[in-house]
Amino acid sequence: RGKRAFIAGVADDNGYGWAIAKSLAAAGAEILVGTWVPALNIFESSLRRGKFDESRKLPDGSLMEITKVYPLDAVYDTLEDVPEDVKANKRYAGSSKWTVQEAAESVKQDFGTIDILVHSLANGPEVTKPLLETSRKGYLAAISASSYSYVSLLKHFIPIMNPGGASISLTYIASERIIPGYGGGMSSAKAALESDTRVLAFEAGRRHKIRVNTISAGPLGSRAAKAIGFIDKMIDYSYANAPLQKELSADEVGNTAAFLVSPLASAITGAVVYVDNGLNAMGVGV
Ligand code: NAI
Repeated sequence: RGKRAFIAGVADDNGYGWAIAKSLAAAGAEILVGTWVPALNIFESSLRRGKFDESRKLPDGSLMEITKVYPLDAVYDTLEDVPEDVKANKRYAGSSKWTVQEAAESVKQDFGTIDILVHSLANGPEVTKPLLETSRKGYLAAISASSYSYVSLLKHFIPIMNPGGASISLTYIASERIIPGYGGGMSSAKAALESDTRVLAFEAGRRHKIRVNTISAGPLGSRAAKAIGFIDKMIDYSYANAPLQKELSADEVGNTAAFLVSPLASAITGAVVYVDNGLNAMGVGV
C-alpha cells in the first residue's frame, strides 16, 4: 500500500508545502492538504480551474492529485477555543471543522490513518518589527501559529498515524543566528520549533515509533516570505555567500522532505537538516 500524507500549510503553488506535496506524490504517496481557512476558497477554485496544472506536473509527466483539501486554522485546537468574532467571520463561517482536533477527526473518518505529517506553516503578525518593538501579543501569536501549532498537530494526528510514520516541519536559521529583519518573535518561534523537534522526537519515538525532524531551509520567495519584506535580499545574500552558488529551488527542500519521511532515513530523528546550499556553514560573508 502506498503511504498517505497530510500536509498542513499549502495555499498556493509557490511555497515549500506545495513542493513537498509534489515530491511525496512523485514517490507514490497519496496527498491530503490542510489549507488556512481564509485562503481556502481561492486555493480550491484555482485548483479546480486548472491554474496550478503546470506546476502539478510530476517528473513522469503525470499531474499531482490532491485527494482532499481540508480547511485548517492551526492556532485553534478545539471548537471551544474559537472566539465568537472568528466564528462569525464570513470566511470562517463558510466552512467547518477546521480546528486541529476536528481536522484530525475528519481525516480519520475519511481515510482511517496517515503515515506522514508535514507542518509547513508559520505566521507572525509583527514579523516586520524588531524584537525590541514586538508586543507581548504579537510575540505570543508568532509562537502560537508557528511553534505550538506543530505540537498540536502532532498531538492530534499521532493517534491516527501508523507506527513507523514520520513527521517534519520547516524552520529557519534565524533561530540560532542573528538575521535582522526576521522579527516579531519569529526567530524565537523557530528556536522553540527546533527545540520541540528534539523533545517530540523522544516522546513520539518512544511511545509510537514515529520520527520527528525539521528542515532548516534557505530563502524562497514564497507568499509568506514576501510578506516579511526582505526575501530578495536574503536570496541575493545566499547566492553571493553560500558554498553552492545557485538559486535554491523549493523542489530541493521537497526532495529532502521525501527522503526524511522515507525508510531511507529510518535512523534519523530529532534532527535539524539544513537545505540551504550550505549557507549555515559559513562564518563570514565573502
Ligand atoms: P507559504 O506561504 O507557502 O506557507 C505558509 C502557509 O502557512 C500558508 O499557506 C498560510 O496560509 C499558512 N498559514 C498561516 N497561518 C496559518 C494558520 N493559523 N493555520 C493554518 N495555516 C496557516 O510560505 P513558505 O515560506 O513556504 O512557508 C512554509 C514554511 O517554511 C514556514 O514554516 C516557513 O517559516 C518555512 N521557511 C520558509 C523560508 C522561506 O524563505 N520562504 C525559509 C525557511 C523556512
